[in-house]
Amino acid sequence: MNFVFRTIITGCSFFLFYTISAQSILDEQVEKRLKTLTLEEKVGQMSQIDLGVLAVGKICEVADPIRLDTAKLRLAFQRYKVGSVLNCGCGFHALSRKRWLELIDSIQEANTRYTAHGIPVMYGIDAIHGANYTLGSTLFPQQIGQAATWNPDLVKAAARITAYETRASGIPWNFSPVLDIGRQPLWSRFFETYGEDVCLAKKMTNACISGYQGNNFGNEQVAACMKHFLGYSYPFSGKDRTPVWIGERELRAYFLPTFQEAIRLKAKTLMINSGELNGVPVHASYPILTTLLRDELGFEGVAVTDWEDVYKLHTTHKVAETLRDAVKMAVMAGIDMSMTPNDFQFNELLLDLVNSGEIPESRLDMSVRRILKLKMDLGLDNMANSKMQAGYPLFGSDSFARVAYNAVGESITLLKNEGDVLPLSPGTKVWVMGNATNSLNYLNGAWSQTWLGQDARFNEPNKMTILQALQAGYGKENVLEVTPQFARKAKRFPGAVLYCLGETPATEIPGNIDDLAITIPEEDRKALESLKARKVPVILVLLLGRPRIITDLDKLSRAVVHAYIPGQEGAKPLADLLYGKINPSGRLPFTYPRSSGDIVHYDHKRTEDNDINFGSSGYNPLYDFGHGLSYTRFDYWGMSVKPVNDTFVIQVLVRNTGSIEGKEVVQVYYRDEYAPVTPAQKKLCAFAKINLKPGQDAAVNLKVPFSDVGDIGADMKPFKASGTIVFRAGHQTVTLNHKP
Ligand code: BGC
Repeated sequence: MNFVFRTIITGCSFFLFYTISAQSILDEQVEKRLKTLTLEEKVGQMSQIDLGVLAVGKICEVADPIRLDTAKLRLAFQRYKVGSVLNCGCGFHALSRKRWLELIDSIQEANTRYTAHGIPVMYGIDAIHGANYTLGSTLFPQQIGQAATWNPDLVKAAARITAYETRASGIPWNFSPVLDIGRQPLWSRFFETYGEDVCLAKKMTNACISGYQGNNFGNEQVAACMKHFLGYSYPFSGKDRTPVWIGERELRAYFLPTFQEAIRLKAKTLMINSGELNGVPVHASYPILTTLLRDELGFEGVAVTDWEDVYKLHTTHKVAETLRDAVKMAVMAGIDMSMTPNDFQFNELLLDLVNSGEIPESRLDMSVRRILKLKMDLGLDNMANSKMQAGYPLFGSDSFARVAYNAVGESITLLKNEGDVLPLSPGTKVWVMGNATNSLNYLNGAWSQTWLGQDARFNEPNKMTILQALQAGYGKENVLEVTPQFARKAKRFPGAVLYCLGETPATEIPGNIDDLAITIPEEDRKALESLKARKVPVILVLLLGRPRIITDLDKLSRAVVHAYIPGQEGAKPLADLLYGKINPSGRLPFTYPRSSGDIVHYDHKRTEDNDINFGSSGYNPLYDFGHGLSYTRFDYWGMSVKPVNDTFVIQVLVRNTGSIEGKEVVQVYYRDEYAPVTPAQKKLCAFAKINLKPGQDAAVNLKVPFSDVGDIGADMKPFKASGTIVFRAGHQTVTLNHKP
């Protein structure tokens, strides 16, 4: 016993020693390299340009196929010594893996030819739901769908594959995940979040960062970039990059924890929020970018700006009178790298600011140190892309597609199933209608082959739309696409009608909306009404990235199936779920509002329960957070909660009482009855996804540290819940009188 103990200690301390010494060797190398750099080279390392700046053609109108322009390469690397390049924003589309490797090789070659320092260029891309800018890659559900799986293992597997396929394309840095909490459904980028809940989003953050970065960095991992620090997702108007007002307490309670988790896991990079927070553009905020991020949270990685955001301090936010002031503000606030991205004014201005003594060179050294360290960590020195082409045998493989299939299958959420109209039995005749019936773009959403994901010319040719998947899997003779006119005039009807409703893919400014209401063509509505009148079951299939109001459509439908934005592998699992090959197990990662004026989160306060009659039915969503049905049923019993050594040890027994195998998401909520700041009516503190055969039982054990059950006080410090705390799982509750 003693021996084992000592061995472990020795093993640990050896490991610690090894890690520390490897770390200090790296630090030494970084210092050595830093000393050899000229001021221009340091400024260059701190700048990032768009691929379009290096390509033949104008910005946003690059020649297709994309080609690099020698004069532009020379300007970027010889004159400005730029250290990083990112994927084209506008006017660009996915490339083959081979083309990516060639392009990045040519960029590295030009960098080696034209610069004396030989520090490799670091390429960054938005591979946000798979390597979505590489043809033939595996696409997964957008983040909101990944959250709906409530299965961190799947999210981690998807992130691992994304990292592998991004690296297989020669790219080591991924601008993902979005760690902004999704509590403003009007916001166009809601679909890029893990939803409204802190506990769920933190678990998904952990899974994603671990999947991207792994334990040891190698050629199959990418540097993660948590974004957008801080408070980006909560614009008051809902419109992207417009003012956000969040008090410090709320910031710490809702918006910070995902970033804290990623920093704990040593996420290597972070992107800054483009917008303003409480009147101050975050790119100009020393308190956020240095006091909070560095001094308090201890982030040691690289902080990159978002698109053109240094200049925007002058051009848009109007807090800097000149571009020069803007550069000074952002650098002194704490940015490390400027996603400039379309010119070299940042480089010229920063150089001038240091030469004139307005910014000390030591300030640049802090950032360049971080950037050099990242480049070494990523092993960029040893990356010869052309040689890597033969590697990565699993790129775009069936085994990866299988993971995407499972991720979609576990994300789809059955919101309603009146009279068990689903699953359809094989052979059931169905009609399919609605705008998403035959569209890959609606399955994929934005950031898929193109930035906005709207251009069908770049869709993968061999992927199936919903109609195609239904016909391939369940018989062309059984599945018919119909027009609303046909549906209205028909005399004979099928077993069910699938109404597939999607939203035009969009993100950032082009995705703004004014209202959560969604309108469908009048003809469609009339057809759905007449089908209902004739008692033909309508199944509403949603491909929406944010909760658009569907209350009237819900009334016309016997079943509602939410598929989020599942990606191009999504149609097959959707078809299989409708026909019962997959038992639904997705759960809502957000509260589904009943009307546009009804945006109340599940973890709302007691006052939000008040109704106009001073009753307590004010919280009345169409579907609650965490909701999702199955084709089987689960019973809960025997719940216990025991405080043991600073941890709540929770047990609940669950049985599959139905007749088919299924997955259940066991969700544990708590309510702190009285607290120093108004407590939430309920709050998720733990969950587990389990699989049970018919009749099978499971004892689900969960451990929740006391520190995860509490809130942020008025003094901005976390406090632990105490006194009466009610825990709930399913219909089981346990009340504790707790003294932490
Ligand atoms: C977006 C970021 C993205 C960046 C690079 C910006 O406009 O806000 O999320 O990573 O562009 O494409």
